[in-house]
Amino acid sequence: MRGETFIGGPRPPATGASREAIQDHYDIGDAFYALWLDENMQYSSAMWEPGDTLENAQVRKLDYHLDQARADGSRRVLDVGCGWGGLLRRAIGRRGVACGVGLTLSAAQAEYAAALGTPGVDVRLENWRDHVPSAPYDGIVSIGAFEHFARLEFSEAQKVAAYRGFFRWCHRHLRTDGYLSLQTFAYGNMRSREEARSTPATQFLANAIFRETDPPRLANIAEATEGTFDIVSLRNDRHDYAQTCRVWLQRLRARRAMAVDIVGEDVVERYERYLTYAFIGFETGNLALFRITLRRLRTQTPE
Ligand SMILES: C[S@@+](CC[C@H](N)C(=O)[O-])C[C@H]1O[C@@H](n2cnc3c(N)ncnc32)[C@H](O)[C@@H]1O
Repeated sequence: MRGETFIGGPRPPATGASREAIQDHYDIGDAFYALWLDENMQYSSAMWEPGDTLENAQVRKLDYHLDQARADGSRRVLDVGCGWGGLLRRAIGRRGVACGVGLTLSAAQAEYAAALGTPGVDVRLENWRDHVPSAPYDGIVSIGAFEHFARLEFSEAQKVAAYRGFFRWCHRHLRTDGYLSLQTFAYGNMRSREEARSTPATQFLANAIFRETDPPRLANIAEATEGTFDIVSLRNDRHDYAQTCRVWLQRLRARRAMAVDIVGEDVVERYERYLTYAFIGFETGNLALFRITLRRLRTQTPE
């Protein structure tokens, strides 16, 4: 493992995906992602209604999470795993939020957001584990980052411990009665964990696309919230992600020659295969897409 060392050697793998693994994926070129993502550079499932364009469906998703986090007119909103910063720009520009802090491990994403210079938006190249806020947040959103918080080699107990660490951290930094709106894809209930992890699709995604990353199962998430959050709403919108992957793949294919110029034939082929596998996974139910609203419990944050 390159970089991310701590005193005494490499950081133990309880941290989920390292900064290097994240950058190997997200820092291959903003221009490449701009070819097939929407204009806001949302790299997670949209929320579709009939007749939507990708743009509409992505904005609906952002508004859904801002609603769930009770963000309107609030002082401080945090986006854990903020990508290129689209949710925070909407929170400030359209929802009356005064200050939006975003955390990402991708240098390219942080630079992109900084270059836009939106007043009130502060995107930091920082792991949530290292972030020490100056004041509690009024609401927290995390979309498409939770998948990176555990690795394929983790046992079930290690996964739950990693997720519990995240929920405790959110509990510590969220105001009393505040809300966390979480979106993550997950293994579906079609197969046992062992079966799901050994399929060619899972192995390809883990080794060639999302290194040091393994999605949760619903039971892992539920167990990890004990003592910190009430789950107040839960949706499995897997068909939303199937549709998003289908549209991303169409857009990538429509601009394939430009994509090859930017990242090369091998990378484009890899992305075509990944989006195809993901589409099939969401369509069949081997993968789920959870949108979970959590309300902070009025307890002391457990140590
Ligand atoms: C799939 S992208 C989603 C980005 C954005 N939320 C969206 O919906 O477009 C995952 C994001 O999670 C971030 N991430 C992953 N692990 C992280 C961690 N430990 N701390 C902070 N950010 C993290 C990545 O840097 C990236 O920005």
